[in-house]
Amino acid sequence: MASSFSCSERTKLTWMLALLLILVMMLRVDGQSGFLSVDCGWTGSAGSTYNDSATGLPYDSDGKFMEGGLSSKISAEFIADAGNEQQKTLRSFPDGKRNCYTLPSAIGKKFLLRAMFSYGNYDGLNRSMDGSPFIFGLHIGVNFWETVNLTNLDPSLTLWKEVLTMAPANLLSFCLINLGSGTPFVSSLELRPLGDAMYPFLSTYVSVSYLRRFRFGDAAEYITRYPVDNYDRFWAGWSFSFNTYPWISLNTSKPVNRLNSIDVFQVPEVILQKATTLDTNYSFMEVSVEVGSNLDIRGMELLPIFHFTEIAGDIPNRTFNVYSADELLFQDVSLSPMRVESMYPTNRFLTNRFLSGSNTTSFMLRKVPGSKLPPLINALEVYSIVRTDNLTTSSEDVNYMKEVKKHYNLGRNWNGDPCSPREYTWEGLTCDYSNGNQNPRIVRVNMSTSKLRGVLAISFFMMASLENLDLSHNNLTGTIPNYELKSLKVLNLSYNQLDGPIPNSIVQRFQAGLLDLRLEGNPICSKGKYMYCSNTKNSKHVMLTAVIVPVVLVSLLVVLGVLWKVCQKGNSGDHEDYDIYEEETPLHIDIRRFTYVELKFITKDFQSIIGKGGFGTVYHGILENGDEVAVKVLMETSIAESTDFLPEVQTLSKVHHKNLVTLAGYCQNKKCLALVYDFMPRGNLQQILRGGDDYTLNWEQRLYIALDAAQGLEYLHESCTPSVVHRDVKTPNILLDKNLVGIISDFGLSRAFNDAHTHISTVAAGTLGYLDPEYHATFQLTVKTDVYSFGIVLLEIITGQPPVLVNPQTIHLPNWIRQKIATGSIHDVVDKRLLDQYDASSLQSVVDLAMMCVENATIDRPTMIEVVSRLKACLPEVPRLLQPTISGVPPISSEGDFQFDYTGRMSNTSLLSGR
Ligand SMILES: *[C@@H]1O[C@H](CO)[C@@H](O)[C@H](O)[C@H]1NC(C)=O
Ligand SMILES: *[C@@H]1O[C@H](CO)[C@@H](O)[C@H](O)[C@H]1NC(C)=O
Ligand SMILES: *[C@@H]1O[C@H](CO)[C@@H](O)[C@H](O)[C@H]1NC(C)=O
Ligand SMILES: *[C@@H]1O[C@H](CO)[C@@H](O)[C@H](O)[C@H]1NC(C)=O
Ligand SMILES: *[C@@H]1O[C@H](CO)[C@@H](O)[C@H](O)[C@H]1NC(C)=O
Ligand SMILES: *[C@@H]1O[C@H](CO)[C@@H](O)[C@H](O)[C@H]1NC(C)=O
Ligand SMILES: *[C@@H]1O[C@H](CO)[C@@H](O)[C@H](O)[C@H]1NC(C)=O
Repeated sequence: MASSFSCSERTKLTWMLALLLILVMMLRVDGQSGFLSVDCGWTGSAGSTYNDSATGLPYDSDGKFMEGGLSSKISAEFIADAGNEQQKTLRSFPDGKRNCYTLPSAIGKKFLLRAMFSYGNYDGLNRSMDGSPFIFGLHIGVNFWETVNLTNLDPSLTLWKEVLTMAPANLLSFCLINLGSGTPFVSSLELRPLGDAMYPFLSTYVSVSYLRRFRFGDAAEYITRYPVDNYDRFWAGWSFSFNTYPWISLNTSKPVNRLNSIDVFQVPEVILQKATTLDTNYSFMEVSVEVGSNLDIRGMELLPIFHFTEIAGDIPNRTFNVYSADELLFQDVSLSPMRVESMYPTNRFLTNRFLSGSNTTSFMLRKVPGSKLPPLINALEVYSIVRTDNLTTSSEDVNYMKEVKKHYNLGRNWNGDPCSPREYTWEGLTCDYSNGNQNPRIVRVNMSTSKLRGVLAISFFMMASLENLDLSHNNLTGTIPNYELKSLKVLNLSYNQLDGPIPNSIVQRFQAGLLDLRLEGNPICSKGKYMYCSNTKNSKHVMLTAVIVPVVLVSLLVVLGVLWKVCQKGNSGDHEDYDIYEEETPLHIDIRRFTYVELKFITKDFQSIIGKGGFGTVYHGILENGDEVAVKVLMETSIAESTDFLPEVQTLSKVHHKNLVTLAGYCQNKKCLALVYDFMPRGNLQQILRGGDDYTLNWEQRLYIALDAAQGLEYLHESCTPSVVHRDVKTPNILLDKNLVGIISDFGLSRAFNDAHTHISTVAAGTLGYLDPEYHATFQLTVKTDVYSFGIVLLEIITGQPPVLVNPQTIHLPNWIRQKIATGSIHDVVDKRLLDQYDASSLQSVVDLAMMCVENATIDRPTMIEVVSRLKACLPEVPRLLQPTISGVPPISSEGDFQFDYTGRMSNTSLLSGR
């Protein structure tokens, strides 16, 4: 039965994205804690800092965050006018294509990184005004971020770039790239941790680069930043560009009502207490955002975030639409008094096709007919999307290479990530990128003739994927360390000062033909006539020809080698663990088979429990390559004894769908029975639905997760032959990946399912509250059993309630909903944490669909195919309108507002001085 099991490959394996480790750190950030401010090129005495006169924030010198570069002061004529200390010095990088700063961070944590550039003619070359291009690039980690274009820019001006990003590791690197059009430099770096729930669209794959950030109404200063903004964002005052009729400034001192679960932008209260609106004779306002002549935003994907708070009175009569070029972004926006409302287009970014030039984009707020008051706005942020999907080198390899660098005190331009991006690979390294889902690995190191001295660094031998190491023509001394080689196939140590003895493990690998070893030109070779001391290219070859060992003998050696290896392993005392290898396994399973010892190792002795279920306990583990996995150790009493286990694994290994969890391996022998899955960093749907107020899914996210789960089930039901019935569909079995995509788990333990969709089973399946009443009565198991449970899941998604409510009395969720709807309205069932932020018409359809799924009679329930298509229909499709006809205020072009970008001066006077 199981061997004929197959699933059609509709969705193929293409979806298999790399599952990077994201541990969402639960650090709380308030005020300035965690701020890192670096004044590049500043040469205060070692370890000293100074406090910035305007913000009081301490600035560090940059010595400990990078290597190389030259520190300089801006030219004397600009020093006196510098707005702050950081503008006075800078660090330039005349050497190397890429130079990186490495800043401390925390993996998975979100940060704002701001870099400032004040040229100030530091090199006396008048470089920005000499007519030729002056451009260099910036990388955030291993991904391209943006170019810095100082061409034709007044040398007294400061340019800044900001990126909001999620740290891919405990270090965040920022690199300057020489593009051949001028020496890169940087004046200051500011790293500000953001709250975990903030800017929810950030992920390891998506960062955003700042274009503009405005506050409206009358602001006291040109730039509002820390300490007004806890996260030290720069908010430019719009009123300094527009304070003329018909624009009208509003302000209030009443407190702004924030609801933690939706206020993911933490806009400072004083900013929300001010707004700009229009004279009531006008009907729309156009907010035109220019980014300056040195940045071309055509082709960029833009992300605007609008912040609104109704501050005009208690019973406002104000409703408006928000447009980007011809596109309606938000319809019928009407605000509650003193409550912050932040809006941005979800699930997509705007492409900037309707520009009024290469450097301008505009948004329009237009009142709807019947609204008394014209629109109002408090703050606006505009970002461009930065794709950060290039992977960093395996952290293990990075660490070993760093040790090597330190060990030999190498001054080479080994900077930033060793393998990524490809074109900046460290000199002498060859990397393997062939597994696109996984971090690149170092496979070859060539450090021949590199003036290395001292002993051979053990780090080389510890690199799990290193195959070829060339350290010839150096001055290495001492002996070869005795360390069991992992994957090394070529080891060239010729022409050094190495002495014996040669470790046995190496000799044996050489003799077995597994290692090409070269040692000629070392003192060790003067002591005997060893094979590896011959200077012929391939010593394995030499062994074959010169000694004329017949093929038979070589095979014998290989066999001996293997036996020796087996014996070595046997010594570990885990004989039982290896019994299994002698068994004939009649099944062909492509996935990895783990031993108990391996599982013990990857889970660090089964330390961290991430879940407990009916089938056993789930542990967190990390594979040798750094991939995170969930290891489900099955309980002996569950199906441990079952002969179904291997067929089950085979079933699982054949099921590939983007909404089904991927099996990475298994373990079966006397010592263990376990399944190894990809790890899902966001936990499960139950946790997130009932996890409290600090993080709430919005309506669309909920619908998308429901659709994900439905598609996973549809695949099991419809694309597998025979169909697979999950039998235990419930919110804890719907896992969430880092992008909040729903992934169904535990289906493998539900057994391939036979006989044309009907089957008599005496094994009770399912979980209380999710149980199909008909199955319960008849033990007739069909795919509709899953449909019923899915209906309950859908109701939980809508209501945030558990399947069985106990307060005030025990009631099953579908009945609770029937009661609520009968005595009130459908809106009473919706999860309160959605704060009425949902689309009423889709709510009705989703509730109807869920109630159909939980019909008592199987025949009345829809199939998963139907469920999927109905859910798709509920998902928002943003309506498009034609460009509104222009009336009211003529579109305003915003000359001058771009100067905020270039005049980094934080003080009033220097800005007015017109620099
Ligand atoms: C900077 O400010 C902090 C706190 O206000 C203070 O403790 C420290 O002494 C100041 N450092 C300098 C160099 O003035
Ligand atoms: C820099 O070049 C511009 C344009 O050639 C010139 O007007 C200006 O005087 C120069 N400044 C300095 C300091 O050489
Ligand atoms: C990712 O790496 C490739 C190859 O090195 C490079 O061409 C590409 O520009 C990189 N992508 C980003 C976003 O930096
Ligand atoms: C925007 O670009 C146009 C030409 O494309 C240029 O004339 C204008 O000055 C630029 N605006 C700003 C603010 O740099
Ligand atoms: C850099 O700025 C100059 C001057 O505004 C402009 O002509 C040029 O196109 C820009 N280059 C790039 C690559 O954006
Ligand atoms: C707003 O005012 C218009 C015109 O007076 C009225 O028809 C409409 O009902 C009002 N809307 C609200 C929400 O009060
Ligand atoms: C090794 O070191 C010795 C002296 O320390 C020096 O004479 C010799 O040139 C060095 N060899 C290489 C290959 O660098």
